[in-house]
Amino acid sequence: MSKTKVALIGAGVWGEVHAKLYREHPGVELVAVCDQNIERARKLADTMGLSAVFSDHREMLDAVDFDAVSIVTPDFAHGQATVDCANAGKDILVEKPLATTREDVEAIVEAVQRNGVRIMVDLHNRWSPPFAVAHDCLMRGELGDPVSAYFRLNDIRWVATDMLPWAAKSSILWFLGSHSVDTLRWFMQDEVESVYAVCSKGVLASMGVDAVDVYQTILKFRRGGIATMENSWITPNTHPCINDIKFNITGTRGMINLDLSNNQMIERFTEDRNDRPDVLVQHFVHGKAKGFAYESIRHFIDNLVTGEEFLVSLEDAVNTSLVILAILESAETGQPVKVRYLGE
Ligand SMILES: NC(=O)c1ccc[n+]([C@@H]2O[C@H](COP(=O)([O-])OP(=O)(O)OC[C@H]3O[C@@H](n4cnc5c(N)ncnc54)[C@H](O)[C@@H]3O)[C@@H](O)[C@H]2O)c1
Repeated sequence: MSKTKVALIGAGVWGEVHAKLYREHPGVELVAVCDQNIERARKLADTMGLSAVFSDHREMLDAVDFDAVSIVTPDFAHGQATVDCANAGKDILVEKPLATTREDVEAIVEAVQRNGVRIMVDLHNRWSPPFAVAHDCLMRGELGDPVSAYFRLNDIRWVATDMLPWAAKSSILWFLGSHSVDTLRWFMQDEVESVYAVCSKGVLASMGVDAVDVYQTILKFRRGGIATMENSWITPNTHPCINDIKFNITGTRGMINLDLSNNQMIERFTEDRNDRPDVLVQHFVHGKAKGFAYESIRHFIDNLVTGEEFLVSLEDAVNTSLVILAILESAETGQPVKVRYLGE
């Protein structure tokens, strides 16, 4: 069987994750890497044994023949690349969030539908084993109908101060809140009707990053379900895991709690540190990529080949972005905001 030829746009921290999965997937050939920082593109391409590197995705689209593309640029830079790739007839895996403005969301939907290409947004929390098992319990009816949910999904502050050079041009809501909203919609099996959010700023600003520290949001779903979500970028760096994750789903007949705030199965003590190595998100077992960060990318390729629907639809990703725009508006105005879906 012929291999799916894939190109990569964005060769940063997460672009490397995509490249590693493509390198090991037997059905994929990674054929080109693009990054506006050409040195970064070249460095990643070298590790993959590739020579086709570009600093502009339009040049890559003109010069290289490929079937599908991963778009792994910063949150605010997904729109144009996604539209251009759709117009070139490529199937697309775009990192979350789909886009950070309503205009970009609309332009992507228009281009994807007009060109008949397939697209998945990497809202990979659906592949996290504890969340997937909890969701299966809910789907089997063990919890009854979903009534309420709580989701804390926070990052240590290092992510905003050191990992992401563009943190101030995004938001913890786009960076992690997109996973929160998608997960809550997935569990409630419903769309968010309205949101009310408050936020606090100051800690990151005092460290030179002009971004909100934390958002607390209440979401009301159309059929009456309610949820609370917290997204913070100021968890202390001493936290045992990069994320602080607590989740509860309560139904008419049962409830599930998740505490994923540290990888409790493994503790490492060396002369200079004590930590909990990752055995959930992006770890390797006998040289093979196993974490759920890789599983969502594998799913994209597998379902491209079989033609099956993606677990995350375009509508899921569109509505997630529109809910976050409503949350941002609520935090700014201090008022509850009704989510405005496409066509409304
Ligand atoms: N699924 C997840 O949980 C997860 C985890 C981390 C990051 N991400 C997402 O991945 C994306 C990238 O994050 P990152 O941590 O790799 O950021 P990064 O800054 O490490 O890498 C982004 C790269 O994109 C390049 N770039 C910027 N604009 C470009 C353009 N127009 N064309 C080509 N290259 C361009 C930059 O030079 C940089 O090398 C973000 O959307 C982020 O939210 C997702």
